[in-house]
Amino acid sequence: MKQWYETLFENYAKKYDEEVYTQGTAGECDFIEAELGRDKSLTILDIGCGTGRHTIELAKRGYTVVGIDLSDSQLARAREKAERQGLHIDFKKLDARELPFENEFDAAIMLCEGGFSLMETDEMNFEILKNAANALKDNGKLIFTTLNGLFPLHHSVQKFCAASSLEGESFSGHSFDLMTFREYGAATITDDFGNQKEIISNERYYVPSEITWLLKTLGFKKICIYGARLGAFSRERPLSAEDFEMLVIAEKQDRAAPFYGF
Ligand SMILES: C[S@@+](CC[C@H](N)C(=O)[O-])C[C@H]1O[C@@H](n2cnc3c(N)ncnc32)[C@H](O)[C@@H]1O
Repeated sequence: MKQWYETLFENYAKKYDEEVYTQGTAGECDFIEAELGRDKSLTILDIGCGTGRHTIELAKRGYTVVGIDLSDSQLARAREKAERQGLHIDFKKLDARELPFENEFDAAIMLCEGGFSLMETDEMNFEILKNAANALKDNGKLIFTTLNGLFPLHHSVQKFCAASSLEGESFSGHSFDLMTFREYGAATITDDFGNQKEIISNERYYVPSEITWLLKTLGFKKICIYGARLGAFSRERPLSAEDFEMLVIAEKQDRAAPFYGF
């Protein structure tokens, strides 16, 4: 049986590129570039790259980027957009829970819930972080955004979703389970062909201390967490309960170097 995130992203790529939350790509890439010291010799893995908006923008800026995603239709649009712009980008169909990369990339990005936090179990979400860690070279940087558990603790998720629902999309019910920090949502969406689909989503919100602990477990150091602002990622924005998403930046430990703590 298909999971909700497989059904959602099937034939949804055009609509996806029109979503409000996908309009901050250039500013987000400015931040990524600054984090990488604008060193264009670096290689970047875009996990859950979707329609390739960051993959393509970073490739245009001169970086070597590989994009991976689970969805054929998201990847088809990514390839089509890259081709139109004369870019040769390696987009691969891969499951982030089973990545084949070992010490290959200088940086990994996983933005706008590129797999992590969408999986049906916490173990699967952890596998994604583990595979991101494995894909990085020593001292490689992981940059990702994920749902901020402080937000539902302080707000009504239902009100938030109703306020942010988009044209052609209607939310019919939401619940947030405080035992698992999972939000269950029922929504009707219209795909690129005008077909209506019922989606029952199940997304995991993480509190910052969990993220820090998970990343430490995987050997990351210098773990920094900020509020993630659409199109304006910054180290100047401390995370608060007003941020729906958090921005996480962490460095993979150099296994050869002595480690004196976090
Ligand atoms: C919300 S989109 C984010 C796409 C892109 N990172 C962006 O910022 O626009 C989530 C993407 O994650 C992909 N995805 C979900 N689960 C995945 C998994 N296990 N492995 C790889 N990709 C996955 C979906 O197909 C979808 O394209």
